[in-house]
Amino acid sequence: MNSRYLEVQELLRQRPRRWLITGVAGFIGSNLLEALLNLEQEVVGLDNFATGYARNLEQVRAAVGPKAWRNFANIEGDIRDFAVCRRACTGVDIVLHHAALGSVPRSIEDPLATHEVNVTGFVNMLLAARDAPVRRFVYAASSSTYGDHPGLPKVEEVIGRPLSPYAVTKYANELYADVFARCYGVTSIGLRYFNIFGPRQDPDGAYAAVIPRWIAQLVAREPVYINGDGEISRDFCYVENAIQANVLAATTETPAALNQVYNVAVAERTTLNELFEMERVLLAEHYPWACESHPQYREFRTGDVLHSQADISKAERLLGYAPTHRIRAGLGEAIRWYVENLPRNAG
Ligand SMILES: NC(=O)c1ccc[n+]([C@@H]2O[C@H](COP(=O)([O-])OP(=O)(O)OC[C@H]3O[C@@H](n4cnc5c(N)ncnc54)[C@H](O)[C@@H]3O)[C@@H](O)[C@H]2O)c1
Repeated sequence: MNSRYLEVQELLRQRPRRWLITGVAGFIGSNLLEALLNLEQEVVGLDNFATGYARNLEQVRAAVGPKAWRNFANIEGDIRDFAVCRRACTGVDIVLHHAALGSVPRSIEDPLATHEVNVTGFVNMLLAARDAPVRRFVYAASSSTYGDHPGLPKVEEVIGRPLSPYAVTKYANELYADVFARCYGVTSIGLRYFNIFGPRQDPDGAYAAVIPRWIAQLVAREPVYINGDGEISRDFCYVENAIQANVLAATTETPAALNQVYNVAVAERTTLNELFEMERVLLAEHYPWACESHPQYREFRTGDVLHSQADISKAERLLGYAPTHRIRAGLGEAIRWYVENLPRNAG
């Protein structure tokens, strides 16, 4: 465990803050909620349940217990509604803005919906944070902002052209945050997430991320498809590392660390073929048939970047970030959760 993170957690326990998590019923948002309630913080949530679930909040309630749960108040509402954003920001010290429509293919199918939530909703939240005023605005940016730039590992200062409407919206977030710092003094930090995974990430639906989708398919003995030859690679990052990055970003007072964007990843690269092999082996302990599964290869998907691996030295240097989980350890934790929570296949 990294010492800066331990120190910050202790400080927060001594002097709790009031946080707003938008997208609180989603995968990352609900994990942030659980971590903050365990740190005895006061939390307001905002979600319209577009891709999040009440069951995620129920699971957090069960995990943290009734005393901590009393420190949480949820607002069911839409970030496209400015009045709702204003109400949610009232009296808040720190915003962790995570509400968005994720997924590259979703944005290719419906660029307008993605724009309205991810850009208009984002500006609403920035304005509400400015007016409240909140002390810190931390937001979910994305590695998709690296677009077609081939350089590896990815360093924050060098980006290419976006490859999807989703990537445009996430880059627009960074530009707006930067301009709000200049024009209105809103202090923000953007976290460029690289393929975050872990408990409560949705395995269902057309836009599910690869790790939970494959786990669910392997468990259900369904075919697993790999787009392309499986040699594209990603820097898969367990959600605990993302929580750490949020807490550090929310609390840093180092002037050079503010109004910046940071890669949030592990700084390692795993191909889809390697990922499939790891999942198959880990799952076979619980579902012996997983061992016999072989992926089926199909066409490469438009909008995807080929390779992705982060340089995390900026977050290490300025935030004191030190990931605690590499992919295998994170996958082990995630699979433990899915084994307990997925409907078990009769076979
Ligand atoms: N998971 C990843 O690997 C990853 C990578 C890069 C960036 N991100 C970003 O991190 C954030 C969280 O992603 P996630 O994986 O937890 O996704 P998620 O879909 O599980 O969570 C998003 C949440 O936002 C809510 N939401 C959507 N539209 C809303 C609206 N109009 N008003 C209020 N709430 C709304 C959804 O209901 C959901 O609960 C998003 O901003 C996403 O773009 C995630």
